Amino acid sequence: MKKIGIIDSGIGGLTLLREFIHSAYSAEYFYISDESNVPYGGKTQQFMYERTQLMVEKLMAKNVETIVLACNTLTAETIDKLRSNYSIKFIGIEPYINYQNKVESIGAKKLGLILTPATYASNRFKELQTKFDPDGKIVVLPLENLALLIEKLKYDSSEKIYLDLKNELKPLKELDLSHLILGCTHYPIIKELIERELNVIAVDPNKQVSQHLSNLLGLSKSKYPVEKFNYNFDLSDVWQYTSLKDFRFF
Ligand code: DGL
Repeated sequence: MKKIGIIDSGIGGLTLLREFIHSAYSAEYFYISDESNVPYGGKTQQFMYERTQLMVEKLMAKNVETIVLACNTLTAETIDKLRSNYSIKFIGIEPYINYQNKVESIGAKKLGLILTPATYASNRFKELQTKFDPDGKIVVLPLENLALLIEKLKYDSSEKIYLDLKNELKPLKELDLSHLILGCTHYPIIKELIERELNVIAVDPNKQVSQHLSNLLGLSKSKYPVEKFNYNFDLSDVWQYTSLKDFRFF
């Protein structure tokens, strides 16, 4: 069975892992994140690269064959450097900006994209925009706090956190969007809330991403029924701590 490492700053990459598991792609998955430093969205490229290197090395010690950066921010900021410094295969994910074609083909109103400030400011994202949305039809909005607020849902389900989440989404309300691309893997965790609050269809690219990756990696479907994978933020259940206390790993 293939061994696949998955990296995110926090719990966002679980949305991709969930898709792999629901689609019954057989593989052994190793998930690692950097709990003490999440979110990465406002951090420097150098910082992200150093932290990612530590995670990569831990995954390599588990003999994974491929590492998926299940994080738009890390892909934008580190994948080129990782590819030139390590021989292991890296696969990244990028905002699903070519969804614009789909939106046009179904005559939908207006497409928006939310993402982290770091992804927004990256050169990779600018290149993506130039290639797939040269006329700037997509309304792009970096959100400073959304990933962090979602991360807090692990241990906080108070009224207050939901108010904060709604507040963070507020600037999108006036934009009159019909569809909204979720450009950060944390965001699908609150997909329903986003759809309800903004009256939009939220576009979660994880299904396409997992299909694409399974083709790339030659993963086959398991014959056995897959148990439902629920986000489980109870760390004692899902995670094992590694020797580096601030990383989570299972
Ligand atoms: N989940 C990540 C992404 O897809 C990053 C969130 C963050 O650490 O800011 O961009």
